[in-house]
Amino acid sequence: MRKKIVAGNWKMNLTVSEGVELIEELKKEISSGIKADELIVFPPFVHLTSIVDKAQNHILVGAQNCHQEEKGAFTGEISAHMLAASNIGHVLIGHSERRAYFNETNELLAKKVDAALNSSLTVVYCCGETLPEREENRHFEIIQAQLTEGLFHLTAEQMANVVIAYEPVWAIGTGKTASADQAQEVHAFIRQLVNDAYSTVIAQGISILYGGSCNPSNANELFSKPDVDGGLIGGASLKATDFTQIANAY
Ligand code: PGA
Repeated sequence: MRKKIVAGNWKMNLTVSEGVELIEELKKEISSGIKADELIVFPPFVHLTSIVDKAQNHILVGAQNCHQEEKGAFTGEISAHMLAASNIGHVLIGHSERRAYFNETNELLAKKVDAALNSSLTVVYCCGETLPEREENRHFEIIQAQLTEGLFHLTAEQMANVVIAYEPVWAIGTGKTASADQAQEVHAFIRQLVNDAYSTVIAQGISILYGGSCNPSNANELFSKPDVDGGLIGGASLKATDFTQIANAY
């Protein structure tokens, strides 16, 4: 079912005690309710078990990455199976920083998506073009390839556990947000791709989030667009008040 989702990607920020403090503040901020249907946080791996304990039912918790294999000799890696066994419900797959700095290809991401869904995690699959790709007017083609190669091998049933995040790389951490019209244009394109690959029911049911310098002053305009179901928030998710304002920007 299509939901209004606001998710916070903490990236490689905060110590475990700072993370716990942030969750406590967030719980206070949202105690009188929020307009989003779901609030998810994606802290670094070492935070996950303490955040899951503190967050309880108010806030959903996800990991920022997982390995494609269930277990084995992969020093430094964490499997989807391990996350699920630790009561983690979500995982980010294909964030542009993973694609750019860790050479994650659509082919590899397809395997990670499979591993996550096989462990009953909900996948937040990220896509988005770089600045040169947008300037060359290749953004639709790039996004289509990211979705076709990384996601559209899934069955219709599996797609029910997938959320898509559109994050133009040129807007991430730069303070340059896509305009609400630019976001809407791409979100409508993504929904049409899902419609063509699956069905209208699945396309209408999937949540598509916008990410890239989303903050309390622009979230309202972005979320007012018909195909923008929420946001994947980086910098502004590290402040409980800002993140809560975004969760209420509907
Ligand atoms: P930002 O990051 O909000 O800091 O631009 C978004 C993201 O990378 O998920």
